[in-house]
Amino acid sequence: MQRRVRSNEILARKGKPFASVTAYDVSFCDAIEAAGIDVVLVGDSLGNVILGYPSTVAVTLADMVRHGAAVARATQRCHLIIDLPFMSYEVSDAQAIHSAGTLVRAGASSVKLEGATHADRIRAIVDAGIPVVAHIGVGPQTAALHDGFGPRRDRSSLLADAHAVAAAGAFAVVLEMIHAEIAAEITQTLAIPTIGIGSGPQCDAQILVLNDLLGLTREPPPFVRPYADVRGIATEALRTYAHDVRSGAFGRDPLRVNMPT
Ligand code: KIV
Repeated sequence: MQRRVRSNEILARKGKPFASVTAYDVSFCDAIEAAGIDVVLVGDSLGNVILGYPSTVAVTLADMVRHGAAVARATQRCHLIIDLPFMSYEVSDAQAIHSAGTLVRAGASSVKLEGATHADRIRAIVDAGIPVVAHIGVGPQTAALHDGFGPRRDRSSLLADAHAVAAAGAFAVVLEMIHAEIAAEITQTLAIPTIGIGSGPQCDAQILVLNDLLGLTREPPPFVRPYADVRGIATEALRTYAHDVRSGAFGRDPLRVNMPT
């Protein structure tokens, strides 16, 4: 029987590059696992790319449970990280453990939370037996309230953040939009794998938002080079379908539509 990749196996990949992507529902899970990608994040970017919110702040724990459970049902092998959304862990250790447990019940192999200021929450969740991925650099949940979405270059505080979350027990850390040289230094000095997004090529691993990678996002972040134009392919398919219906060709081409006899 297939089993999911475990957090200790990801920890052991330190120094061995691996790819990770986000997923939000069943649609692309077969393709992700068939491509050999075995670390999947149900990110709270869900709010932006699927639910149409202007930021991740509106995403709730119930949203993460619904979408996380869908991805869990549609995958077998991948290590499934589910994001703790805004205000589901900040209030107290008890709240953080309860929220993390809810995500594990939904199918998470581990949970992710933003910010080194919450290192004590990481420790509490890990002590409760749930593996944690930390997320430093740009933290989309609070970026609008503090430093914005620009690249981070404050070397000493970024290094301190990285070491604080590792010391608190995180088994991996996402580095979002950290200047490439600083991300490389963090990667070299940390015992846990770094997973970069917009932080240069020298992180241990890379993660991309699936919709950005596939060319589905109208305005992807500047550091993303889409690997396909799925938006273009879908538009063309829909245009052809609409044309076929309007022209009366729909259903007459046996290669395109199987009509019941
Ligand atoms: O929510 C998300 O998709 C993320 C990635 C940007 C790492 O946290």
